[in-house]
Amino acid sequence: MLEVVRDPAAMRARAAAVRAAGGRIAFVPTMGFLHEGHLSLLREGRRRGELLVLSIFVNPLQFGPAEDLARYPRDEQGDLDKARSVGCDVAFCPSVEAMYPPGFQTRVEVPGLAAGLCGQVRPGHFAGVATVVLKLCHIVQPHVLLLGEKDYQQLQIVRRMVADLDLDIEVVGCPLVREPDGLALSSRNAYLSPQERQQALALSRGLRAAEQRYRAGERRAEELLAAARQELIGAPGVVLQYLELRDAATLEPVAGELDRAAVLAVAALVGQTRLIDNVILR
Ligand code: PAF
Repeated sequence: MLEVVRDPAAMRARAAAVRAAGGRIAFVPTMGFLHEGHLSLLREGRRRGELLVLSIFVNPLQFGPAEDLARYPRDEQGDLDKARSVGCDVAFCPSVEAMYPPGFQTRVEVPGLAAGLCGQVRPGHFAGVATVVLKLCHIVQPHVLLLGEKDYQQLQIVRRMVADLDLDIEVVGCPLVREPDGLALSSRNAYLSPQERQQALALSRGLRAAEQRYRAGERRAEELLAAARQELIGAPGVVLQYLELRDAATLEPVAGELDRAAVLAVAALVGQTRLIDNVILR
């Protein structure tokens, strides 16, 4: 049976009891409006822990002033039904006031990894993410933390934070999930009109074009980027924010020949909706 916990102290007590009894806790943090990508994380978490905890919290700290916090899609009842369907034990759904009471001011920064890509377009975003993930981990006390590779930069930032701050947590990155036509699943896809949804396919087409060249043996960074660019530049309705090839672990830019795993990452506006996608070349 799914338990809904809203109070951080009650969540912490629930987690402490499971730990005291020797149980492993698997944790999937989300901002809700769950889709198959989230459910794949929960299914993996189910295999890895005796207590499976999902958090649903639209974190104001990670939204800029001109971003979509107010209209971010929400459907708590639908989310709880989906969480139940994959055997989740606890949904932690705190209020903003419980997470950030008056006087709250601490921020966790991972400045190097957060400097480029989405961090450049969304200043302060990753400090908001790192802060809330650390806070949630202190409350939920997981042994295993599961995050999607869709938010690839976020995953690397959380991995770095966990290592740097000596958190005794295993971070598991799970593969990005796509619609049958290639669109990467995202809660923000709900914003897209039918026409924009079609236009958004340029992102995955571009990445696939580069991936195909890579699989065929191409290792020159410029050629791989050019293959993706060809699908993206001038694609109707798509305003490219970045298309970059980065080292998969350090997120340092990659130039010349690819001699290690890399991530090809893209962000674009489709209408008013900002979408990200990536492919890992390894
Ligand atoms: O990926 C997300 O949904 C959010 O950034 C996270 C990790 C739940 C933190 O708010």
